[in-house]
Amino acid sequence: MHAPDVNLYLVGFMGTGKTTVGRALAQRIGFQLLDSDVEIERQAGKTIPEIFAEQGEPAFRVRERAFIEGGHSQTRCVVACGGGLVVQPGMLDLLKSKGVVVCLHASLETVLKRTQGSKNRPLLNVEDPMERIRALYAAREHVYRNSGTLVLTDGRPLLEIVAHVFRIWK
Ligand code: S3P
Repeated sequence: MHAPDVNLYLVGFMGTGKTTVGRALAQRIGFQLLDSDVEIERQAGKTIPEIFAEQGEPAFRVRERAFIEGGHSQTRCVVACGGGLVVQPGMLDLLKSKGVVVCLHASLETVLKRTQGSKNRPLLNVEDPMERIRALYAAREHVYRNSGTLVLTDGRPLLEIVAHVFRIWK
């Protein structure tokens, strides 16, 4: 049991549905939706690919950390976290200290389908995105699996996923 206005943090790999599920959940709970990528782009005045290209991935990770440490309300928010955010050292504990953490999961084939053609994911902008997805996922899997409750988003209606996450948050 927790305070009824505690934040909900959606974590998980790229293409697992964090933004889509987050939007629907925020509507259902009556919370504000915050997307870490959108907030970072707003603060930087640049797109994610521009930040990666001009400042490098480490600078992007610093921005993610700053957003989580101070750049958002501590209550009544559903926060859709960029896929690599929770992988940073200490970040999972930090998120858990701020709210409920739910990790979305999908098969890597689904991740590939959902992310194909996306211009906003510089890490997948490579000749063989599936190979990159496999490598990144293998390096991160242990963190995702420790992140909190895992919720599968493959082939499930959005409303069912939302109801599932809602039960965990509640
Ligand atoms: C990243 C995931 C992206 C975005 C950036 C890096 C990652 O967010 O933050 O391209 O390292 O997994 P989504 O998970 O919303 O695609």
